[in-house]
Amino acid sequence: MNLSVAVSADWGIGFENELLFRISEDLRHFRTLTLGKVIVMGHNTLKSLPGGKPLPGRTNIVLSRQEGLKIPDAIVCNSLTALDENLQNYSPENIFIIGGEEIYAQLLNRCRYAYITKVDACPPADAFFPNIDEMEDWRLAEESSEKFSNGISYKFCKYKHAKRALDTVDVLRGATLRLEAGYGFPG
Ligand SMILES: NC(=O)c1ccc[n+]([C@@H]2O[C@H](COP(=O)([O-])OP(=O)(O)OC[C@H]3O[C@@H](n4cnc5c(N)ncnc54)[C@H](OP(=O)(O)O)[C@@H]3O)[C@@H](O)[C@H]2O)c1
Repeated sequence: MNLSVAVSADWGIGFENELLFRISEDLRHFRTLTLGKVIVMGHNTLKSLPGGKPLPGRTNIVLSRQEGLKIPDAIVCNSLTALDENLQNYSPENIFIIGGEEIYAQLLNRCRYAYITKVDACPPADAFFPNIDEMEDWRLAEESSEKFSNGISYKFCKYKHAKRALDTVDVLRGATLRLEAGYGFPG
């Protein structure tokens, strides 16, 4: 499972149930990451989307504790247990947690990769993402060059969870180590 988020310089992600930034390249980046995939969001985040509606071209899963809630074109889960049952139908690499604060807090440490757009600005915020740079288990794996939009600078960062993320290079390194140690193929 992965997550995607855009954060301000003090890890703000929203204000009055709206996004803090509308950077078109970031919105395109989000679309490229999630199109055709499964997106998991909290009920407040759904309400913040255009028209309060699920995003097209993706399997939308909405977390809400309101039992019996029906949302057209979305699967509603009333608990993390119900979410887990639903997610068994999909490959973990195709699942993206897309917010907001409450949902990130509950699911961040079950993710392998965190795609974080870091925006170098500090508008007022009332919803936040945890400071992943201070978390022992998370490592910055990739970072784009600095980009600019309407005078605001931002960059795309990819973090990986030290224990959960297995990149191709890690798999190959593991295979090499096993071969070096004499664990070759039988026969
Ligand atoms: N910058 C970004 O990338 C980004 C991305 C997404 C969102 N945001 C921002 O984040 C803010 C919203 O965050 P938020 O924390 O207020 O709301 P949220 O995480 O989107 O949704 C919270 C709601 O999810 C439901 N919920 C939470 N945990 C649950 C669980 N374990 N089981 C079942 N349902 C559960 C509850 O819905 P019910 O009340 O229906 O029970 C709860 O009120 C907004 O400002 C939004 O713009 C920013």
